[in-house]
Amino acid sequence: MWIASPAVGSLHSTTPCPYLRKPFHLDKGVKSARLTVTALGLYECEINGQRVGDEIFAPGWTDYSKRVMSRSYDVTSLLKTGDNVLGAILGDGWYCGYMGWWNKRENYGDRTKLMAQLDVVLADGKTVSIATGSDWKTAEGPIRESDFFMGEIYDARLEFGSWSSPGFDDSEWNLCRVEKEVPDISIEERLGPPVRRQEEIKPINRRVIQNGKQVRFIYDLGQNFAGWIRLEVRAGQGRSLRLRFAEILDPKGDIYTENLRSARATDYYICKGEGKEVWEPRFTFHGFRYVEVEGATEADEVAIAGVVVHSDIKPTGSFRCSHELLNKLQSNIVWGQKSNFLEVPTDCPQRDERLGWTGDAQVFIRTAAFNRDVSGFFRKWTRDIRDAQGENGSVPCVIPNVIDGDLAKRDGGPAWSDAAIICPWTIYLCYGEKQILTEHYESMQRYLDGLIKNYCKDYIRSHWQADPWGGFGDWLALDGSGKIEGGTPKDLIGTAFLAYDAGLMAKIADALGKVDDARRYEKLHKEIAGVFRRRFVTPDGLIASGTQTAMVLALHFGLVEGEARKLMAETLNRDVRNRGFHLATGFVGTPYLLEVLEENGYLDTAYKLLEQESFPSWLFPVKNGATTIWERWDGWTPEKGPQDKSMNSYNHYAYGAVGAWMYRSVAGLEVDAKEPGYRHVIFRPRPGGSLTWAEASLETAQGTVKIRWDKVPEGLKLDLTVPEGSHATLEPPEGFGPARSLKAGHHQIVLKV
Ligand code: BGC
Repeated sequence: MWIASPAVGSLHSTTPCPYLRKPFHLDKGVKSARLTVTALGLYECEINGQRVGDEIFAPGWTDYSKRVMSRSYDVTSLLKTGDNVLGAILGDGWYCGYMGWWNKRENYGDRTKLMAQLDVVLADGKTVSIATGSDWKTAEGPIRESDFFMGEIYDARLEFGSWSSPGFDDSEWNLCRVEKEVPDISIEERLGPPVRRQEEIKPINRRVIQNGKQVRFIYDLGQNFAGWIRLEVRAGQGRSLRLRFAEILDPKGDIYTENLRSARATDYYICKGEGKEVWEPRFTFHGFRYVEVEGATEADEVAIAGVVVHSDIKPTGSFRCSHELLNKLQSNIVWGQKSNFLEVPTDCPQRDERLGWTGDAQVFIRTAAFNRDVSGFFRKWTRDIRDAQGENGSVPCVIPNVIDGDLAKRDGGPAWSDAAIICPWTIYLCYGEKQILTEHYESMQRYLDGLIKNYCKDYIRSHWQADPWGGFGDWLALDGSGKIEGGTPKDLIGTAFLAYDAGLMAKIADALGKVDDARRYEKLHKEIAGVFRRRFVTPDGLIASGTQTAMVLALHFGLVEGEARKLMAETLNRDVRNRGFHLATGFVGTPYLLEVLEENGYLDTAYKLLEQESFPSWLFPVKNGATTIWERWDGWTPEKGPQDKSMNSYNHYAYGAVGAWMYRSVAGLEVDAKEPGYRHVIFRPRPGGSLTWAEASLETAQGTVKIRWDKVPEGLKLDLTVPEGSHATLEPPEGFGPARSLKAGHHQIVLKV
């Protein structure tokens, strides 16, 4: 049964984290024991003073009004004959913390709750079960407050000592409340990788600012990331240290926190004053590179280390080339991914948002699947998408859907809600597992049917049919429109994505052997493409609005053909040149821009954009010290400094979607949709720009795939590895001869011009 502390916060204030404990006696030795546990909120369990498991923020985030995940641990070795104690600490987390935008708590419920069951088989075969119930006791402890956005307040003077061990006096503790009102939600084994601590970072610099006897430190960890710090301190009892976190410094060298909006992102540690104290927070995380520690005196000893946490997605891919700034860009993309793959794919890890924005995830998923194994991560999140789907099939803009107001009820809009089809398809493509398609087929169909029925008129996806809003447009494009949503018409973006959805559904139906459906979706795709052309494209290949993103979508989704296609590609190329090879596209157009240029014969232009160092470009932030991907091209400029504080993160992965092009075209590692999961590898290096070599490798289900090319006097030297169980095709760059098939093994080939 669910139990909780009697203490409760309010919509605008939290309660201290409750500690819960249950002593019990085992009169025989233990043969085996399993603890199954879950919480509404976050839990950390202990048995006899030892932590159970190594997950962070367990049990993870799902739509708690529908389901919560649980975990089962083998705890045989933690128990003993005689007295034992099972304990838990609870944190607000996503359940009743401030998560969800409007600076208000309690998205799902008013207090954290625990459910646990310990099943023990004794040496004599008898079984004993200890479950959460009204006989559990609870008390407030040293964690006075803990929230993802706000931070953690820890008063070490209030530590209990061995509270989860036998012999501890809990006579002052209260009895737990049995929570009878919790709706009957599904409790299921965890899906996807849990969050774990990953690595530690040492500061590269510490600035000491003296103020009388007080000192303030500003640490630079050298890398923007998500996690927290480990604090080591030697100071007097009651000394209170305030820790604040920031992504950048202001011109005076102080931490810049304005872009965190309402996220206080501040931890406090109050010393107990007994020698060296080592502390890490439990139920919060921050997105930061710099840390300010305030409140110490000259005599105190203070040291910190950064602790990086994210979902346990294993590294799979690597990309390197002869251009050092591009290598740094790749590193920034990976750090953007690590910082934002935290239980769900979030937009950013620092401000009061940290939400599963569908659009961001959709544009980045292909890149993500190169860098790390994200198959389990997305199997879980695509289930979250299904859970959030509305009755009319619509998919909201953030998942789990925790935002308030109109946005929460709306379909997420073009390029956002389409994640419902794009994400399962991409996971299938990259990992070859059909299951994700089978699981989502019905919901993807419902989504597309609903779009056509409720948000389209004659296949023009003009959201105003059901809703005048129309979506986020080409979010953050610098296309001269002066609008945050860019100048590409929303119905153009919508109809283009509708056609793309239909085309993907045809491929999905084919993969699942649903031949009739596949033909039906192909026909639908053709019809939508026809409608798109009629409405938005002239026979000469001019397109409504004339923005780069309009052209990129039409070209990438195969919505223009023949001469019109040629002319449109020419216009796009000219527009890029006219802008001096600077970027003008937003979230929607940018991910496909280089691919479209390449496909249409403008590889040179693609490389000029990629290697561009002046604003706006991918390398401009890199040149200016970025260690992650910025949310906006103009997140910081020498003229203006930081962008408007109301929306300016320095750790958003969306524009890092260019990573996929670096793997697929710069290095040349491609998958074949007909034999997904790299059972058929396509090597298609497209050398260009100033690059003299590039290489990529990828761990696939078949084994490691590798490519390296070097420009040599004779032509192009290739080093290729095809794993057992795969075969490959080499598609040389133009002018280097015909395609050739390759068997599993290692191949060294010199392609002559
Ligand atoms: C988020 C985005 C998101 C957008 C919707 C922002 O606040 O950070 O990345 O996609 O809203 O347009």
